[in-house]
Amino acid sequence: MKEQHSPWDIRLEHLRVGYGSRVVLDDINAVLPGGKITVILGESGGGKSTLLRHVIGLSRPMQGHILYGGQDLFALPERQFRRVRRRFGVLFQDGALLGSLTLAENVGLPLHEHTRLPKATIRATVLRILELVGLAEFADYYPNELSGGMKKRG
Ligand SMILES: Nc1ncnc2c1ncn2[C@@H]1O[C@H](COP(=O)(O)OP(=O)(O)OP(=O)(O)O)[C@@H](O)[C@H]1O
Ligand SMILES: [Mg+2]
Repeated sequence: MKEQHSPWDIRLEHLRVGYGSRVVLDDINAVLPGGKITVILGESGGGKSTLLRHVIGLSRPMQGHILYGGQDLFALPERQFRRVRRRFGVLFQDGALLGSLTLAENVGLPLHEHTRLPKATIRATVLRILELVGLAEFADYYPNELSGGMKKRG
């Protein structure tokens, strides 16, 4: 069967990732097909989170390439690199809401950082989003007042 390529494919080529001089994963070659769900399986401590940190551009690989639609993520000019990174959404293992901000402030943070929308507009948008996941009434709660599942939905 002919291989299908989408401009949304993510390709990993001879990827080596790790921390300092410590290699966690080496020579990873894979295609994560655009529009599909890819599952990464592995033992605890095997390097799944480490791999994802690199794929979304949070850390620079020790070696090899991460290609988005054929373009090397780490060879992109800064502006384009930031534009690609803004398309990523990440649900962290531990929720990763900022403890000093309310749920609504956490959810509104990307809009606050990346747009010039007025506060009231951001608040209204955030409340609409929280409504969708059944958390509107918890908008002004702090993360430590929410359950694990509620934090993930936030
Ligand atoms: N920030 C870090 N600095 C140094 N080493 C790290 C760091 N984060 C993870 N490691 C090491 O990298 C290896 C892979 O960890 P990683 O978090 O990628 O595993 P994982 O596959 O996501 O595990 P789990 O299923 O438990 O979430 C582990 O040996 C861990 O000690
Ligand atoms: Mg992990």
